[in-house]
Amino acid sequence: MSSQKRALVTGGAGLIGSHVTDKLINEGYTVRVLDNLEPQTHRFGKPAWINEKAEFVQGDLTDRATIRAAMAGIDVIFHQGAYGGYMPEIAKYVHVNSFGTAQMLEVIREDNLPIKKIVVASSQAVYSEGAATCPTHGLVFPAVRPVEQLRAADWTVHCPLCGAPTTPAPTPEEAPVGGETVYGLTKVDQEKLVLLWGKQVGIPTVALRYSCTYGPRQSIFNPYTGVIAIFCTRLLNGLAPVLYEDGEQTRDFSFVEDIARANWLVAESDALDGLPVNVGSGRGVPIREVAGQISEALGIRIAPEVNGEFRPGEMRHLTSGTARIRDGVGYLPQTDLLTGVGRYLEWIRGQGDVKDYFTEAAQGLKAKGIVHKASAK
Ligand SMILES: NC(=O)c1ccc[n+]([C@@H]2O[C@H](COP(=O)([O-])OP(=O)(O)OC[C@H]3O[C@@H](n4cnc5c(N)ncnc54)[C@H](O)[C@@H]3O)[C@@H](O)[C@H]2O)c1
Ligand SMILES: [Zn+2]
Repeated sequence: MSSQKRALVTGGAGLIGSHVTDKLINEGYTVRVLDNLEPQTHRFGKPAWINEKAEFVQGDLTDRATIRAAMAGIDVIFHQGAYGGYMPEIAKYVHVNSFGTAQMLEVIREDNLPIKKIVVASSQAVYSEGAATCPTHGLVFPAVRPVEQLRAADWTVHCPLCGAPTTPAPTPEEAPVGGETVYGLTKVDQEKLVLLWGKQVGIPTVALRYSCTYGPRQSIFNPYTGVIAIFCTRLLNGLAPVLYEDGEQTRDFSFVEDIARANWLVAESDALDGLPVNVGSGRGVPIREVAGQISEALGIRIAPEVNGEFRPGEMRHLTSGTARIRDGVGYLPQTDLLTGVGRYLEWIRGQGDVKDYFTEAAQGLKAKGIVHKASAK
């Protein structure tokens, strides 16, 4: 059916982009990868896992001539390339994520490129705080917790209407979109630019709001990547995983192959065109439990450290509401957390020496005010 489709995967050397590339090639697509091999993520240059059937272009997506050449002869764009994590370089987020996306769209229009679909990688980071249930008001959408509250080591999410403590609920796409970190703000930019512009010019688009994604190929060099990679490298170096807040905050985790399949599913269907779409497991897991599972699976039993540190703007709970993608394209995750963590650890063991880059990075984050410490209660 899709045997003749030509796809561009930006960020195709990275965790998600490389798996999207593999999935598309398996499904009969011709794939071009554009990736600048961001040094923080790819410390030793071009990774061996880039599919040899893909055309690999090393270049920066923010460069007008580079993105113009990369889009020539393409039907579908999977825009995965982005600057991510909790980095201190705020201008770079805006440049790569917001400006890079805007310029890509501008060039499509300028050259009248016959692009048939754009799937853009958004994030659950676009929400302010996960949806919650108030005993009186039912489903509510709380705002981000005030820094003063967190400084007092009070991690509770309160009902925006009556102030009562709430319990977490799955977050539907209708939840207000905020962007409480610079990264989150640029993901909002990316999805709004693509969705709005697509409607204006008549190009079908989908913005996938990924939950925390992990799996083989997740950079073991980048100390600002996902919590699973960070906990693994800490434990492998004999160091305790560091839990922010009290470790009871929850996240929704997706195995990278599931995320890649979601990309393919929404590209093949028009059911979700023009929409932001959550991709997640629909299950919230406490971060402390994640640390425990990894520690158990590695057989390295070091109790996590809880120092009362927190990151302003961070959500307390986030579980993806998954009805839209399930009903729209029949997506269901296939790999559960235990299996997925096992596959990640198997991969990491084959990576040779695994250093801890987190300790030094964590110092920098504190010095720059990205990580704060609560005063003792
Ligand atoms: N991993 C997650 O948990 C997660 C969650 C939500 C959303 N996302 C989004 O998914 C996408 C892919 O993330 P990932 O986890 O695979 O990250 P990743 O860092 O593994 O991959 C991103 C890739 O983009 C490339 N890149 C960065 N800047 C570039 C530029 N200027 N030009 C060309 N290439 C560039 C990097 O070299 C890297 O290979 C991103 O848009 C990210 O914001 C990821
Ligand atoms: Zn209430």
